[in-house]
Amino acid sequence: MSWRRICAADSVAERTLKKFEVDGIPVIIANYGEGFRAFPPVCPHMEEPLEESGFIEGKVLTCSKHLWQWDLGTTEMTGSETEKPMHFYEVKEENGDIHAFIESEHEYEFDEEDEMDDDDFFNS
Ligand code: FES
Repeated sequence: MSWRRICAADSVAERTLKKFEVDGIPVIIANYGEGFRAFPPVCPHMEEPLEESGFIEGKVLTCSKHLWQWDLGTTEMTGSETEKPMHFYEVKEENGDIHAFIESEHEYEFDEEDEMDDDDFFNS
């Protein structure tokens, strides 16, 4: 896969995000007021769907579940809670459309929710 047209630029209002699907790969387009970002649709923390839990203030995207934050201007982590970077696809705006460079779907690795150590289980 390569550059893909995702949507018309004016279909994502300022400081909002919207989920799209291109060739079976879900992607969020976020308009942070000074440009657009494209990223996978789930929070890198606990897989929350960001089209529901994410909101944008200024240039900062916040996941409302546990307040992890990323600066959409720089793509860096921000805020005091955030522990993992967000994956961004490259984006460009061309002839009024948003295009994203997606080679393959990016999926995060999530920690096991069960914190019990396997060794403790088998030795007890
Ligand atoms: S699930 Fe998004 S911050 Fe925890």
